[in-house]
Amino acid sequence: FSLRSVNTFGIDARARAYLRVTRVDQLAQVLADPVLGAMPRLLLGGGSNIVLTGDVDGLVLHMAIAGRAIVGEQADEHGGSVLVRAGAGENWHDFVQWTLAQGLGGLENMALIPGTVGASPIQNIGAYGAEVKDRFHCLTVFEIASGTLRTMDAAACRFAYRDSVFKHPDGAGLAIVDVTFALPRAWAPNLKYGELAQELAASGLAAPSAQQVSDAVVAIRRRKLPDPALIGNAGSFFKNPVVGAAQCAALLAAHPALVHHAQSDGSEKLAAGWLIDQCGWKGRSLGAAGVYEKQALVLVNRGGATGAEVLALARAIQADVLARFGVSLETEPVFI
Ligand code: FAD
Ligand code: EPU
Repeated sequence: FSLRSVNTFGIDARARAYLRVTRVDQLAQVLADPVLGAMPRLLLGGGSNIVLTGDVDGLVLHMAIAGRAIVGEQADEHGGSVLVRAGAGENWHDFVQWTLAQGLGGLENMALIPGTVGASPIQNIGAYGAEVKDRFHCLTVFEIASGTLRTMDAAACRFAYRDSVFKHPDGAGLAIVDVTFALPRAWAPNLKYGELAQELAASGLAAPSAQQVSDAVVAIRRRKLPDPALIGNAGSFFKNPVVGAAQCAALLAAHPALVHHAQSDGSEKLAAGWLIDQCGWKGRSLGAAGVYEKQALVLVNRGGATGAEVLALARAIQADVLARFGVSLETEPVFI
């Protein structure tokens, strides 16, 4: 089975077997099957955060479970929340727009992030000052080893910046089948990300609705990020590195224009895109893999790139940033 059309990088790799999973009981059937049950497995959502470095010698389980519903409410000291649940296979952006159409705000800063609802907790997706963990209530997993379903709360998911238990060995083998979010009844816009506040102010929207915030996020993203339907990519290729205050001060002394943001624990988050840009990589290519012209943190497929070419470019960038700034860049997508 060719995986080319199911990964947004557009890398041409193949899988031994492929199954589109639309019901939870199909997962149990796979385990019971003498042939499929014995194969290594790869869980796949929208394929927007993976880099295929070779063929998959196993079974791809494409998580396509549908459904979205308001499932309850929860009282708290801030006026309470409405609980909304979606199947793992729902498209994330469509789900965000559906919540807005129900009159429920809370996810609008994360509009237009590609991929599925089921993958949203995996790296605790985030954008424009919000993260999934801020609105997360619980999720249901199918534990492949035992063939059982269980619920996990936020503590069990161990959310951190672009990270969760699902990216670590003790979270492997858990198929997320649905996710429940708690959306506030008393909604107020979250405009702490400067660029978003400026975009709304420029449109004369001093007190925007949740839908207007979503529209502004969509407009910014369309200007800066490549559309995977036109240019293969997986969004940010590296995490923004977090360094200590002393290292940041030393870097600032040598590079006064360094882009940095203080974190609540006193550490500083640097803009990896700025570091890569300063090394002169923006717009450059190595083989068929390239650095996007408008955003140096995004690596792109210029046509027919292999996973190996993308990796070679990533390593060259990491080496340059380390040599020039003494900062190690960690990759963000999942390498398969
Ligand atoms: P996939 O790529 O299919 O899978 C990612 C990982 O999750 C894999 O390890 C896979 O095995 C696992 N997985 C997928 N579904 C399940 C499941 N149901 N159960 C268990 N494991 C599963 N990310 C951000 O955080 N913020 C951004 O602003 C952002 N912008 C992006 C912009 C572009 C143009 C692109 C291409 C990507 C961007 N991303 C961003 C990355 C990506 O959109 C997210 O990581 C998204 O959550 C990936 O979803 P997916 O369904 O495509 O997951
Ligand atoms: N910058 C440059 N040159 C570049 C790119 C960026 O100088 O080529 C500078 C910008 O001027 C800006 C700073 O770097 O001052 C930050 O850039 P931007 O606002 O574009 O955000 P980012 O840090 O590059 C992060 C996330 C994105 C998310 C945006 C908005 C990570 C790894 N990336 O990007 O998430 O959409 O902020 O919140 O945290 C993703 O994870 O795939 C992703 C796209």
